[in-house]
Amino acid sequence: MVSPSTKLYGLIGYPLGHSISFYIHNAAFRALSIDALYINIPIEPESFSKAILGIKYLPIYGLNVTIPHKERIIDFLDEISVISKLIGAVNTVYLEENKWKGENTDFGGFLETLKELKLDKDLPCLILGAGGAARAVVYAVIEYGFKEIYLTNRTYGRAERIAEEVKKNKNIEIKIIPWQERHKVDEKLILINTTSIGLDSKSTPWNGNFKSIAFVYDIIYNPKETPLLSLAKENNVPFKNGLDMLIYQACLSWNKWFGFIGPFEIMKREAEKLL
Ligand code: ATR
Repeated sequence: MVSPSTKLYGLIGYPLGHSISFYIHNAAFRALSIDALYINIPIEPESFSKAILGIKYLPIYGLNVTIPHKERIIDFLDEISVISKLIGAVNTVYLEENKWKGENTDFGGFLETLKELKLDKDLPCLILGAGGAARAVVYAVIEYGFKEIYLTNRTYGRAERIAEEVKKNKNIEIKIIPWQERHKVDEKLILINTTSIGLDSKSTPWNGNFKSIAFVYDIIYNPKETPLLSLAKENNVPFKNGLDMLIYQACLSWNKWFGFIGPFEIMKREAEKLL
């Protein structure tokens, strides 16, 4: 529904062609008769500072932030949550008491799915990747209660940096495994992919055997079944893709914008139509 008093929300990032946020938020606005519209606001990196200052003066009530702006947005906000600070990234911006505030609902979204899956906290988990998405995942697995966490990344230094930060902030030891040696781990474990490998529907970040894998979680949601998840399926290992995480992060953004959690089923149904 659109009216003269429609409130604007939107997604900033670049490019935005791949995003399904526009569809899921607007479907939920329609279903709940909320007089709001969610728009794509592509902002090229070179224009970021100017554009974000402009947005602050427009009647926009909340934003999602995606690649490549999740880190840079922080400097333009009045306040960010503790977890956003730890992760170093914000994906939800909202206005509260005339202040622009930031939250990271990727963290909460992933955590929510871990709770639902009831994964065994006593098993070690091996996280593949140490990019932006990995940071939210690492803090979520800690919050969920996994005690033994392994991290592996093609660029060793990025994994090291995360481990150092986690040690400093949470006093938890993350064990780093060199990327080339990731398949040597032979304990029973939960495998979580946060790399972009598999987005092409062809490549897999795991070529090792699945005998010691108890569960495979790939945070990619498009394709719905990455080659990694197909391998898990072939090997009778339970698995999950990133769609529920995506939907939960959207629902949690609503909590900041409207004071209640967005309608998961409505958003998920809309997403499934598109994927
Ligand atoms: P995001 O914010 O989605 O996590 P990112 O910060 O660019 O994106 O991180 C992408 C992740 O996928 C990184 O862990 C990256 O490894 P590097 O840190 O070595 O770049 C990983 N990745 C992407 N392509 C890869 C490939 N072909 N082989 C191994 N790792 C890859």
